[in-house]
Amino acid sequence: MVAAANEPATRLMVLCNPHNPTGTFVSSDELAQMIQAIPADVLVLIDEAYCEFADAPEFPQPVPELIRRTNVLVTRTFSKAYGLAGARVGYGLGHPGLIARLRASQPPFQLSSVAQAGALAWLERPADVLARTAKVRTERARLSRELARRGFRVVPSQANFVFVIGAERPWASELLVRGVEVRQFQDGFRVTIGSNADHGRLLAAIDEIADGDGHL
Ligand SMILES: Cc1ncc(COP(=O)(O)O)c(C=O)c1O
Repeated sequence: MVAAANEPATRLMVLCNPHNPTGTFVSSDELAQMIQAIPADVLVLIDEAYCEFADAPEFPQPVPELIRRTNVLVTRTFSKAYGLAGARVGYGLGHPGLIARLRASQPPFQLSSVAQAGALAWLERPADVLARTAKVRTERARLSRELARRGFRVVPSQANFVFVIGAERPWASELLVRGVEVRQFQDGFRVTIGSNADHGRLLAAIDEIADGDGHL
């Protein structure tokens, strides 16, 4: 990634942290090293759409430090941890000079007053957000354990989904006929974290599929 950022034609580098669809992350130290090695005229966009679900101690928290740089923009959304995907509201954090440049090309009235009211209402209830994300982390750990117990290779996740490696069968379509929707990728499938009951249905469907022919 750093090598690509140093190519003369590169203007923008995007890092999704935690990563979608795997849930992996770049640590604080790795990120600091990476940014150090990227030319100052390449914009580094750090997409933190899933950061509220992260609990690894090494997950980067140093936004104030990062945005002292004039070429780093951190973006976040109210679509995931706050459940406001329909409102289309998010925000960017960056150096004032960078933000001023972005604002210069920003169309007017991009954010409805309803979306703003929804976002502000959440910001007044931080404990409720923490409770929501804590629940996701608990269910994420439980589901990861249950899938691993069944022989799946589960990528350790810092997001509100887990990625299961293995495409030996078309899991998404086999699960869909049993009323469970997961997202199929070339090398595996991604499960969005839901409730304990949702996961019960997923695991029961998996067991039914596996029992049908005796293997995963
Ligand atoms: C990595 C990543 N960034 C951003 C978004 C989009 O966020 P928003 O709903 O605010 O457009 C998504 C949505 O799936 C995503 O996966």
